[in-house]
Amino acid sequence: MIKVYVSRFNSETDKEPHLECYEIEKTKHMKVLDALQAINEKYDADISFRSSCRAGQCGSCGILFKGNGALACQKEIKDGAIIEPLRFPVIKDLIVDKSSIEAKVQDLQLSLQCDHKCSEIDSSIKKDDTADTKKVRSCIECYSCYSTCPVVNIATEEFGGPYLMRYINKFDTDPRDNFDRLKEALDGGLYNCTSCGKCLSVCPKNINTFGDAIEKMRALAVANGSGPLPEHVAFKENVLNNGRSVKKSKTSFIEEATNNTGSKVAFFTGCMVDYRFPELGHKLVRILKENGIDIDVPEGQVCCGSPLLRTGQTDAVQKLVDTNKEVFKDYDTVVTVCSGCGSTLKNNHPDYGSKLNVMDISEFLVDKLDESKLKEVNMTVTYHDPCHLGRGQGIKDAPRDIIEKIPGVEFKEMLYPCQCCGAGGGIKSGKPEIAMELSKSKAEMIVDTGSDSVVSICPFCKRNIQDGLNAIGREDIKCIHILELLDKAYE
Ligand code: FES
Repeated sequence: MIKVYVSRFNSETDKEPHLECYEIEKTKHMKVLDALQAINEKYDADISFRSSCRAGQCGSCGILFKGNGALACQKEIKDGAIIEPLRFPVIKDLIVDKSSIEAKVQDLQLSLQCDHKCSEIDSSIKKDDTADTKKVRSCIECYSCYSTCPVVNIATEEFGGPYLMRYINKFDTDPRDNFDRLKEALDGGLYNCTSCGKCLSVCPKNINTFGDAIEKMRALAVANGSGPLPEHVAFKENVLNNGRSVKKSKTSFIEEATNNTGSKVAFFTGCMVDYRFPELGHKLVRILKENGIDIDVPEGQVCCGSPLLRTGQTDAVQKLVDTNKEVFKDYDTVVTVCSGCGSTLKNNHPDYGSKLNVMDISEFLVDKLDESKLKEVNMTVTYHDPCHLGRGQGIKDAPRDIIEKIPGVEFKEMLYPCQCCGAGGGIKSGKPEIAMELSKSKAEMIVDTGSDSVVSICPFCKRNIQDGLNAIGREDIKCIHILELLDKAYE
């Protein structure tokens, strides 16, 4: 028997939706749709929901499953599952009114806009011309991405969300369309996306809306002079001046720590550790030493290019990739402590001709920790999954395993550890109000766990989450990097 919680709402009898609990027998590979039918049969519950193809093709059965968009016909039911309607006005139970987004599609004239030469263009189109539009064309309109986007749900309604950005890009990349789609995208909030990747993770068709639509349109906006945001210009200026996306304010970590130990393991510091948080770099070197590992800190390394890629300023990226490729060419492993750097080195650099063996510090260290040396740390902590580590690199267990190995540490999971904190995608500098709304939402979740500290593996998350905690008056709770926690354990 499993328990399933279903959101119920009947406008004639209820003021608000509420959850009802049902117990059913779970059969092997039972889907949410099967569970809803089983509940209706067993309880005569009359739960209303939509479905049609039952094969993941029509998109009509979109629901929220534990807060994330999913197809009821594809998602396997689990004990304790919470099934809610998508985030639209509810008509009854799981049936929602999507007319608001359909009206936006009409307003934006999201249909092929082709002038009188359309048929000529059609016949001259080659396969390569349609490659980009094909990447974003398979949407089945389940609205999972729109209903799960943290910016849409928490921060601002002035964002068409991944659904509309993908839709606009479908026509922007269609060689037959001749409407000004870039203007539509900019008006629809092209720069309001944090690059958290949540939309890709819930898309049943694996459409990478950020990478294949938003990032591409940001690059086009830069190319035609309508982007990036003024605050983003400094990233490129800094990179061109000194190879770092931020300005130098003190002696850099690399200036203090450059060493050549002969190790085949190298540290890719990233801009934030080199120029803003050098203490994290020193802690890494010391912690690895405690575990019998030497790490080189090679001179000449530069920004990974993430701030430029995320904001569409792509013309300076190749040089950064080539420089890092040369600097790290003789190492077997390159360790990162910034999830954004790690994700960029792993996911973007191969497109620019560089494929290093990159490991996040958590995946590198989890099996190498000398637990006999770990001292007791009396703290209650929770863990925030950085978007570019959890979704970007698929690493969720290793950081938790490390935390749980430290004696004395009590670990408490927060409600939605993978919910974006709002630090990425150029949002923190370009749209600070969005970053703040998301970080406050994250901060509330952290407070609910009763933890003293929240651990992360990203200097950007560290700074933004602390800003959120401070903004809600909880300066006493600290956002710390996992290296800071390990540092206490090796004191
Ligand atoms: S019923 Fe068609 S996608 Fe689920």
